[in-house]
Amino acid sequence: MLLATAVLVSAAWLAPVKADASAQAVKLPETRFASTVSGHGFDAPPGFADAVPARNQAHPEAKAVGEQVCTACHAKENDNFAHTAHALGMQVALAANPATATCEACHGPGSVHAANPTAKGSIIAFTHEGGTPVANQTESCLGCHSGGPRDVWLGSIHQRNDLSCSDCHNPMQKFSAEGLTAKQSVSETCATCHKDIRQQFNRRSHMPLPEGQISCVDCHNPHGTLNATLLKTDTVNETCYQCHAEKRGPFLFEHAPVRESCLNCHQVHGSNQHALLVAPVPMLCQQCHSHTRHPNDLQTELSLGNGMTPDERLMGRGCITCHAQVHGSNHPSGPRLHK
Ligand code: HEC
Ligand code: HEC
Ligand code: HEC
Ligand code: HEC
Ligand code: HEC
Ligand code: HEC
Ligand code: HEC
Ligand code: HEC
Ligand code: HEC
Ligand code: HEC
Repeated sequence: MLLATAVLVSAAWLAPVKADASAQAVKLPETRFASTVSGHGFDAPPGFADAVPARNQAHPEAKAVGEQVCTACHAKENDNFAHTAHALGMQVALAANPATATCEACHGPGSVHAANPTAKGSIIAFTHEGGTPVANQTESCLGCHSGGPRDVWLGSIHQRNDLSCSDCHNPMQKFSAEGLTAKQSVSETCATCHKDIRQQFNRRSHMPLPEGQISCVDCHNPHGTLNATLLKTDTVNETCYQCHAEKRGPFLFEHAPVRESCLNCHQVHGSNQHALLVAPVPMLCQQCHSHTRHPNDLQTELSLGNGMTPDERLMGRGCITCHAQVHGSNHPSGPRLHK
């Protein structure tokens, strides 16, 4: 595991960064957490005690005003904010050192905004209309949260599609039990954009995501990975083995398509077939086993269940009535995946 991590981290630096991504390159002010920030480790984020105002690119001349100035006008927002993980930590830090940034650690120095609150861009606003470029928004959060799961945020499909941290997180209020997600659960947060995927989980066969036992982030890292589909592991099969460890084998007799990819036969987000299958048995098997011999010579009217000479290969559980070990067999006489 450690080895895999090291490979991932070093490969992150080699990964090509798309041209449009360079526009969002994160340049942290040198004074910020110089002592504690680690470029790409798995350390906890630097504590709130180190917090300084974020950099508002639109107003480099702005000065910090302190949270009492903000809360004088934003009492309602402050009430909602008070219960969140950030607020609790920041209040402790502020009590110890009155110079610690709180609101301004995310929103940037407030003097320009306090003097003219309606001027767009006067404060770092975490919306797509607020006048703050998305790159500046994410830079504010990444000042404390770079590295670890967000090692490859830059260049990831979500970053390239101009998502901001605040498309999924709302730190101003406790909407979710954990993770400060913008909706009550991870899956509903993703479903604000990926409705089609969420709907597939309503199909007859699905893993227990609507039931709350697993979530999108058990398999995906929304902050970016080195593969196209944001999988947390290098391959599809590794993802499945996290929970279905018995399918990893090793087997005395392998079934080639299982080793290649579980998705040869399964639909991960939901299916109306039995056991998340992409097609019903025997058609599923016959997509590949179509040579002339036992597997194939049976799709005739006569051999159907109500035909003249019903064939057991089409009845009951079809092929898997006999070839029950479709994922691989460890039985000395199991080369045909019977046992
Ligand atoms: C004098 C009152 C006042 C003070 C002081 C003030 N704000 Fe505001 N703020 C406002 C008003 C009014 C708006 C709404 C502006 C609008 O709708 O155009 C606003 C809007 C905002 C927004 C949303 C901006 C957007 O475009 O969506 C943020 C974020 C914000 N304030 C943060 C802060 C922070 C942080 C501080 C302290 C550094 C602060 N404000 C101090 C009055 C104030
Ligand atoms: C951890 C970073 C962070 C801190 C600290 C923080 N904010 Fe925010 N704030 C955000 C984000 C992100 C949003 C956008 C939320 C959304 O998606 O609507 C936001 C939105 C706002 C808005 C716009 C209205 C709203 O509620 O969406 C105001 C006003 C605001 N913050 C004021 C404050 C004040 C005042 C403080 C300090 C008491 C504060 N913020 C502390 C990140 C932060
Ligand atoms: C000043 C540093 C700092 C900034 C800036 C900051 N955070 Fe945090 N954040 C922290 C720390 C420290 C924690 C850990 C709190 C804990 O574990 O109790 C944290 C926790 C979190 C968590 C996890 C909360 C949980 O309940 O598990 C999320 C999500 C998060 N931050 C998102 C953001 C986003 C989005 C922004 C930008 C809008 C942001 N943070 C800005 C320091 C910061
Ligand atoms: C596409 C949605 C999405 C985007 C965009 C996103 N996050 Fe997250 N983030 C999540 C989800 C989902 C979790 C997991 C929450 C949970 O486990 O409850 C999470 C967890 C976190 C956590 C806590 C656990 C950890 O990974 O350390 C932090 C901190 C965090 N995100 C920061 C950020 C920052 C900073 C950005 C912007 C650069 C960002 N996120 C962008 C969806 C997103
Ligand atoms: C604000 C909208 C938005 C939210 C919220 C969002 N995504 Fe995305 N996501 C996108 C966009 C846009 C793309 C790129 C376009 C596409 O291929 O659909 C994308 C792409 C992806 C991809 C890669 C698709 C591919 O074809 O390679 C995955 C996987 C994904 N998102 C997972 C998630 C997960 C998991 C969450 C929740 C933690 C989430 N997304 C939340 C907008 C969003
Ligand atoms: C059990 C693991 C798992 C869970 C849970 C999961 N996914 Fe996936 N997801 C995958 C795999 C595997 C792929 C296909 C990867 C490939 O083809 O390389 C995928 C592909 C995707 C894609 C891109 C391809 C497509 O079908 O459009 C998106 C977008 C996506 N997932 C979003 C989500 C969202 C949103 C959730 C939560 C509602 C979710 N996933 C839950 C494993 C999972
Ligand atoms: C986070 C854990 C997790 C991961 C990762 C995971 N699964 Fe599952 N899977 C489950 C759970 C939980 C069930 C339900 C088991 C039960 O009901 O006994 C399940 C059930 C299934 C079923 C049976 C569905 C049915 O209707 O009988 C199939 C098939 C399946 N998973 C395939 C996959 C594949 C393929 C992957 C990889 C893309 C995968 N799983 C990854 C947790 C996971
Ligand atoms: C050649 C097609 C095929 C491939 C490839 C395949 N499966 Fe299956 N899988 C099936 C069939 C058929 C069933 C239904 C078996 C039954 O009903 O007895 C099934 C059932 C399952 C089940 C539920 C019953 C059980 O055995 O626990 C899980 C979980 C599962 N598969 C996981 C996986 C995983 C993980 C992979 C990848 C390592 C994978 N499958 C690859 C055909 C396949
Ligand atoms: C994606 C293609 C694919 C699918 C779908 C598929 N198989 Fe296979 N199967 C193969 C390949 C490739 C081999 C290895 C053939 C070889 O070694 O000559 C194989 C081998 C076998 C063997 C061992 C045959 C031998 O000669 O040793 C059996 C039995 C078998 N499959 C049954 C099934 C059954 C039952 C299903 C449906 C549940 C199924 N297969 C679905 C591709 C597939
Ligand atoms: C009634 C039990 C039974 C059913 C149902 C059945 N098979 Fe078989 N199958 C066997 C036996 C027994 C063998 C071994 C024959 C041998 O070793 O010569 C075999 C051999 C095979 C082989 C290896 C063929 C070869 O040329 O050596 C494949 C592939 C296969 N079956 C696929 C299928 C598929 C696909 C289905 C469903 C359409 C299916 N089987 C249904 C009993 C069955």
